[in-house]
Amino acid sequence: MQFTPPDYIQHAALLEWVSKVAALTKPDRIHWVDGSDAENEALLAQMVAAGTLVKLNPEKRANSYAAFSDPSDVARVEDRTFVCAEQETDAGPNNNWMAPAQMRQTLDGLFDGCMRGRTLYVIPFSMGPLGSHIAHIGIELTDSPYVVASMRVMTRMGRAVYDVLGKDGAFVPCVHTVGAPLAVGQADVAWPCNKDTKYIVHFPETREIWSYGSGYGGNALLGKKCFALRIASTMGRDQGWLAEHMLILGVESPAGEKSYVAAAFPSACGKTNFAMLIPPKAYQGWKVTTVGDDIAWIKPGSDGRLYAINPENGYFGVAPGTSEKSNPNAMAMLKQNVIFTNVALTDDGDVWWEGMSKEAPAHLIDWQGKDWTPEIGRETGRKAAHPNARFTVAASQCPSLDAAWDDANGVPISAFIFGGRRSSTVPLVSEAAGWSEGVYMAATMGSETTAAAMGAQGQTRRDPFAMLPFCGYHMGDYFDHWLKMGDRLAHAPGIFCVNWFRVGEDGKFLWPGFGENMRVLEWIVGRVQGKAQARETVLGWMPSYADLDWTGLDDMTTAQFDALMQVDIEAWRAEVAAHAEWFAKLADKLPKQLADKRSQLSEALAG
Ligand code: OXD
Ligand code: MN
Repeated sequence: MQFTPPDYIQHAALLEWVSKVAALTKPDRIHWVDGSDAENEALLAQMVAAGTLVKLNPEKRANSYAAFSDPSDVARVEDRTFVCAEQETDAGPNNNWMAPAQMRQTLDGLFDGCMRGRTLYVIPFSMGPLGSHIAHIGIELTDSPYVVASMRVMTRMGRAVYDVLGKDGAFVPCVHTVGAPLAVGQADVAWPCNKDTKYIVHFPETREIWSYGSGYGGNALLGKKCFALRIASTMGRDQGWLAEHMLILGVESPAGEKSYVAAAFPSACGKTNFAMLIPPKAYQGWKVTTVGDDIAWIKPGSDGRLYAINPENGYFGVAPGTSEKSNPNAMAMLKQNVIFTNVALTDDGDVWWEGMSKEAPAHLIDWQGKDWTPEIGRETGRKAAHPNARFTVAASQCPSLDAAWDDANGVPISAFIFGGRRSSTVPLVSEAAGWSEGVYMAATMGSETTAAAMGAQGQTRRDPFAMLPFCGYHMGDYFDHWLKMGDRLAHAPGIFCVNWFRVGEDGKFLWPGFGENMRVLEWIVGRVQGKAQARETVLGWMPSYADLDWTGLDDMTTAQFDALMQVDIEAWRAEVAAHAEWFAKLADKLPKQLADKRSQLSEALAG
């Protein structure tokens, strides 16, 4: 293996680190990724030849590809994800923990020779606009060309990063391997991974990431969940900013008033759809624009407001359920230059997934390469696309992209929205009475689980701030960080809770969702602008039927709205009892302010 870095890399510590990792992992060669078009094309062609990618019919999806993972490697692996802080109590009960020294020993064993027969790619990337004071740089070392191509879409990646880094700039070192070394002469498989052993490891004190055994997005594209959330959340705690699992969108009224909101929803709750919302016909002149669909880095500005950037450069969205109805903007942006993963293939070389159209095509090749027909689907229950099938596409292709999405100073945030997937109990929308009440609501939010992570689906779990799988430190300390942030802000954003997923007695959704969410959004921005009306309730401020604009949504009756907004006292007593159980898990690190809020709510409900 030759170690001949390009001479534009002048960073001695970086070069030393790469050389050390290469000595450990023993790749056949090192490729210093420059991010150029020519390099990308060569990698894509190489992956087509290796069977990792299928080139789609260019007349249907120009310059687009489909990848199919090993069936064991289709989602994030939360039970294999570790935060190895020096002290177990810093990682908290919300993270798996192992002592750093012990974990390093385990990893040293696993990484020794893990890249044999493969190429080590050195990927320089920036999370956030290059050089922005809110952005940070990472270097990912990986033996997966799929990761290189995906990181090129998902981050600002390439040679220019080294100019910002200079000779001694800070970067987060990220090491990834699929964990499948090749013996001499051994043929590779289309999706190499390690079926038995996976480790997704974070060292918060040294701000390092080591990922072993998976090629799947959230486990392997280390800029995303590992860096931009788990490691960045600890950086934010130490440096006074926030790294959040939030979309960022802009709302502009016909009069040209513009507000930005950041919204947290657990995985696969429609964040991408909400970020790209198209207002209903009756909302002539209203515009919703997209800054980001998954992650926000948020810093207080000197004017006492919070400013947010989207650290990513693209969208790694859930494909199933994406359609002309649920997200026309996404459908438009997916016409070209996309890498799909685990979708189904049509006979004419295009892609399909459940929910894309009412009727499935008569014949498909499913995500596991098997023949699929609607009849087979009905008989076996097999889906054509994996429920966590994804698209990877550049933000620049989003038709609703906000003009300031790339602004190095970020956009000012007027409101935070927190939402879970709750079939009962939680009303359509409420506004917290103040910052600490809002932090309480976000800290206790629950959601029914989905396919974005391995494990049982459909159970309610507490997912505070939609950060449970992504907070890199003790959740009690995280709540404290949020409470203190509010104290620092002269102009704190309003905090709102929403639930698009409440069902009626017939089991059907009570709220039409999608573009109609605009009606709730209008009320939210109206509240922070001091225009919209509300009534006080035990949960904070809530709109009455007359406070929302129903033009064009004739079938939303007052009775249906009341069912959506109902605060069932019995159900809330049970809910607040569940909050107590959740808080007990955080034990000594739960801020007293939140325990007090819980008691107050409990008393108010006892009534
Ligand atoms: C994601 C997730 O991939 O939250 O965004 O799982
Ligand atoms: Mn996410």
